[in-house]
Amino acid sequence: MKKMQKGLATTCVFFSLVFLVCSIFTISSSSFASTGKTLDNLQAAYDGESNANAKYLAFAAKADEEGYGEVASLFRAAAKAEQIHMASHAKVIQEMGAVPIAKIKEAQVLTTKENLQAAIEGETYEKTMMYPEFISAADQRQL
Ligand SMILES: [Fe+2]
Repeated sequence: MKKMQKGLATTCVFFSLVFLVCSIFTISSSSFASTGKTLDNLQAAYDGESNANAKYLAFAAKADEEGYGEVASLFRAAAKAEQIHMASHAKVIQEMGAVPIAKIKEAQVLTTKENLQAAIEGETYEKTMMYPEFISAADQRQL
């Protein structure tokens, strides 16, 4: 149980960081009119947030099935956060004259412990790799 609590705390930190990074990317991208690479990155971000939303809802159902109601609530809250990120990205994509596109893939649902680990890994990738690269590209106005 202590390991689960540690994982839960770590996951909460990652979700908080991702919320911040996603918000910065959306603001950075919307602060000037840009196309090309930034639009592609926004579409990739929209797709990623859309898939994360679906994945966390599936993880929540699995957590409920395994009797981890609090973890299920966390996943539902994370799914809602992802929905907000999706909407923010969609708004900017539409302001740039494009249509947001997401291809929802079936989530790989394992045990709740494994799902938490997968969530941590996914959010870490977004925080340390994906969004920093997207922000850099937007700041450099790469077309
Ligand atoms: Fe997100």
